[in-house]
Amino acid sequence: MIMTTIQAKFNLPYTYQVVFTRDAFNPENRVISTVLGTAGKANRVLVVIDSNVVATNPALLSRIEAYAEQNSQLLDIAGAPFIMTGGERCKQGPEEVEKIHALVNAYHLCRHSFVMVVGGGAVLDAAGYAVATAHRGLRLLRLPTTTLAQNDAGIGVKNAINKFGRKNFCGTFAPPYAVINDFDLLDTLSARDLRAGIAEAVKVALIKDRSFFNQLYDHRITLGKFEPSIMESMIIKCAQLHLDHIQNSGDPFENGSSRPLDFGHWAAHKIEDLAQDDIRHGEAVAIGIALDALYAYHKNMITEIERHKILSLLEQIGFTLFHPVLKKMDMAASLKEFQEHLGGRLTIPLIKGIGNLVQVHEIDTRLLDQCVAELSEKYKPKGKSDEKRTQPNAGNESAGNVLS
Ligand SMILES: NC(=O)c1ccc[n+]([C@@H]2O[C@H](COP(=O)([O-])OP(=O)(O)OC[C@H]3O[C@@H](n4cnc5c(N)ncnc54)[C@H](O)[C@@H]3O)[C@@H](O)[C@H]2O)c1
Ligand SMILES: [Zn+2]
Repeated sequence: MIMTTIQAKFNLPYTYQVVFTRDAFNPENRVISTVLGTAGKANRVLVVIDSNVVATNPALLSRIEAYAEQNSQLLDIAGAPFIMTGGERCKQGPEEVEKIHALVNAYHLCRHSFVMVVGGGAVLDAAGYAVATAHRGLRLLRLPTTTLAQNDAGIGVKNAINKFGRKNFCGTFAPPYAVINDFDLLDTLSARDLRAGIAEAVKVALIKDRSFFNQLYDHRITLGKFEPSIMESMIIKCAQLHLDHIQNSGDPFENGSSRPLDFGHWAAHKIEDLAQDDIRHGEAVAIGIALDALYAYHKNMITEIERHKILSLLEQIGFTLFHPVLKKMDMAASLKEFQEHLGGRLTIPLIKGIGNLVQVHEIDTRLLDQCVAELSEKYKPKGKSDEKRTQPNAGNESAGNVLS
């Protein structure tokens, strides 16, 4: 028998800025100090930085130190920067997260302290999880360093590490204090990682914005060459569409069963689980988009011209739209895993025409197998065994100044 019910209800407004800039650690650049200035004076700041950012841009460490010295009224750096293993490896177990917890403890950081994380989406995810869980949450300042982190992973409200061989199994919803997208940080990025993030722009255009899709299509050749001005406007527009969804969907912390921004992702996450280090998130997303676009075509949800435009945009950006693990995927089990991660009823985002999202609750897995066979026929590298994937432009590209 219920004696008493007390209804708890409160609303909490969240605001944070996503600032686009260049050369953020130049003493003349006031973006970081302005952001920290909003919090008060002499903020304690732990710096966490992606190991591959340091390896390709070693001068960055001394530049951060010099910036902190020049802005010592606002920045009180706690110890040496923590150099976190870059790439998906930092998400594979709890080790890197625990190292950040230990530093927060050792430096006596409090909930008003900042952790400034400079890195790709994987480092931002793992460090963000550590920051959200130490003392139940310190202030997180993100400086994303990949295309994908600047236009998607680094600007939103989620963080995670993998567990039980499953992507993003442990994580929280925790909005950052601020995000600073410094385009110059992309200068050291490999072509492979410059490209990977473009998949998220294609994704968000397909579900939300037909004219953005057409712009991407019209600029597909220059995009494929990572021409800086087109990359930068693509990043800004993509970030804007993601933030628009977070702000205006009515479900920023994904309490419902649907996750529209995950178009192409149910398959992408499984491909990443199976392919491990062999594939980037954005590359898996490109394959997931191709698979779901083919499926939508066979279900008469998009026209042949639309299917052609989607696949050729991805191809011309340089994506390989097949991976051998696709053939090992149990479609029904993969869909079930996706459903379990989201909760509730199976809800797969698909498109009915470019720019028009629809939610689908039943998927024909035999048709999916047929779509995989079509992708395999069209994109499987010829003359190679299934185990060895050729990644055009992936392996031996220099990490040089593709953008500058
Ligand atoms: N939290 C979210 O909302 C969200 C959204 C999308 C993706 N993600 C996650 O993001 C991760 C993928 O992120 P990503 O595509 O940025 O890949 P990544 O973080 O794995 O980075 C790719 C590689 O580039 C290196 N790198 C990063 N910046 C560099 C730079 N400027 N110069 C040279 N090397 C650099 C990294 O160390 C890594 O080796 C996945 O784990 C994915 O699940 C999270
Ligand atoms: Zn994604």
